[in-house]
Amino acid sequence: MIFRQLFDSASSTYSYLLASRRGGEALIIDPVLEKVDRYLQLVTELDLKLVKAVDTHLHADHITGLGALRDRTHCITVMGEQSSVDVVSMRVAEGDRVQIEGLSLDVLYTPGHTDDSYSFLLGDRVFTGDTLLIRGTGRTDFQNGDPRAQYDSIFNKLLRLPDETLVFPAHDYKGDTVSTIGEEKAFNPRLQVTSVDHYVELMNSLKLPNPKMMDVAVPSNMRQGLAQDLIAERGWSLTAGEAMELVGRPDVAFIDLRERTEREKRGVIPGSLHSPYPDLQANLRPGGILHDLARSTGKRVLFYCAFGERSAMAVQTAQDAGLSSACHIQGGLDAWRKADGPVVRPPLPVRNPD
Ligand SMILES: [Fe+2]
Repeated sequence: MIFRQLFDSASSTYSYLLASRRGGEALIIDPVLEKVDRYLQLVTELDLKLVKAVDTHLHADHITGLGALRDRTHCITVMGEQSSVDVVSMRVAEGDRVQIEGLSLDVLYTPGHTDDSYSFLLGDRVFTGDTLLIRGTGRTDFQNGDPRAQYDSIFNKLLRLPDETLVFPAHDYKGDTVSTIGEEKAFNPRLQVTSVDHYVELMNSLKLPNPKMMDVAVPSNMRQGLAQDLIAERGWSLTAGEAMELVGRPDVAFIDLRERTEREKRGVIPGSLHSPYPDLQANLRPGGILHDLARSTGKRVLFYCAFGERSAMAVQTAQDAGLSSACHIQGGLDAWRKADGPVVRPPLPVRNPD
């Protein structure tokens, strides 16, 4: 496995670049905007393809690199379903998995520092964001923080992992790089409490100053711009209502770009075909299903995904590949459902399992 811990000294943030092999797909956790050039240089040097960028929560102390990485690599941006952030193209919840080639991260919902805080477990290591730090815990006094929820996240989820599990946090201000669950249980001063009330009292007595960047970082991180705005300007977007008129039409192919787990959880548009976003390039080449569908049947390709972000990027790629009728549903299945569009369970067996 390729595992790189990268540091932003201005905000003391750790970011993590993961891949199963040289030449394969990569994922980055908690990227910082100012370091995006460095990440992409490393991605090139290691011959990787960045396919997913994940934020553990809405950060208050630095501007996320998610928007810039999406614009420059067309990667999928991932956050928890509670995040009030527009950049997100895939939302996850407790029990989901974030997968790339050869790696699968278990999603743990660990609120408390913020109400959108998540941790990600990868085999012998856990990425704890700002929920559990080395000899500390993330503050709980802003962004819908809640010390009671954080106690539950730490004591009833993270500390139940095996003691030897490696802990990789989103920050460290002292220079530590890694710890273990066992070490934190024994030596983290915030965890030496006798009850949840004791923990709440401890956290409420901290009286910390706000982060320097907070007034800039929070609004900026909530509005990273949408890939779909540009696509709409080019006339390649349909509203959910417009798309609904096309269901069942023989000259239109609805293409679902989401992953199998998202389809099973949220349902699919009736009659739609499955072509996962990571396989887009291959499927648009001669011999690929999208290429053949558009060229041999003359069907109009209508992409959709969860929120319209992946499908907007897919429209651009399809247009670049010569599919001039390709378009997408603005706002994705989320907008479709809000407009009372019909949704059914995905057909079995699932095509192109991912
Ligand atoms: Fe944070």
